Amino acid sequence: MTQDELKQAVARAAIDYVPQGIIGVGTGSTANFFIDELAKVKGRFDGAVASSEATAQRLKSHGIAVYELNNVGELEIYVDGADEITKHLHMVKGGGGALTREKIVAACAKKFICLADASKLVDVMGKFPLPVEVIPMARSYVARELVKLGGQPRLREGFTTDNGNVILDVLGLTIMNPVELETKLNQIVGVVTNGLFALRPADVLLLGTADGVKTMKAGD
Ligand code: A5P
Repeated sequence: MTQDELKQAVARAAIDYVPQGIIGVGTGSTANFFIDELAKVKGRFDGAVASSEATAQRLKSHGIAVYELNNVGELEIYVDGADEITKHLHMVKGGGGALTREKIVAACAKKFICLADASKLVDVMGKFPLPVEVIPMARSYVARELVKLGGQPRLREGFTTDNGNVILDVLGLTIMNPVELETKLNQIVGVVTNGLFALRPADVLLLGTADGVKTMKAGD
């Protein structure tokens, strides 16, 4: 199976988790497959909160109602991909640059369902450069602080987030304690969000493998 076929398989499997009401929807190629599957079951739920402008546009293009997060209460589920995920369901996210809104929408959801093809499951995170969203005027300061933590930050050239900020992609980190690092990075003045999702990990991972979709839960 190709990587896209694996992503499509997990996207299809995630439809079983869609409740009535409004759901949170992530960003990226895997989330896009999920949106396309959602379009086939439009009558089963009321609409979505999007984690990026791109996701909002894709949802709307399918005729799915998009709601502002501030106008809805707690969401039953948030569905999104990841760049790396461990068996503890800690994740690195933000390859698509939507990490801040993803983290906000995920925080409002009772259940985070991560969709990933088998290549995303790792023992230790850090091979994928860790995205950090930064207020533009703090870029150099934050980069120096990231170097002190052992990272090699690189500005994502020509990219501005939906929130008007820049992204530093941090290479060279071997993330042995994701909760600690996520907390530490959040303390750097000028950092808006970092791409570690460990304080609020996923609750369910639907992993696309050659042998079918495997369901993993935190603590398995
Ligand atoms: C978007 O900012 C990211 O967090 C994505 O969810 C993540 O990069 C996974 O993307 P793909 O599904 O395209 O691999």
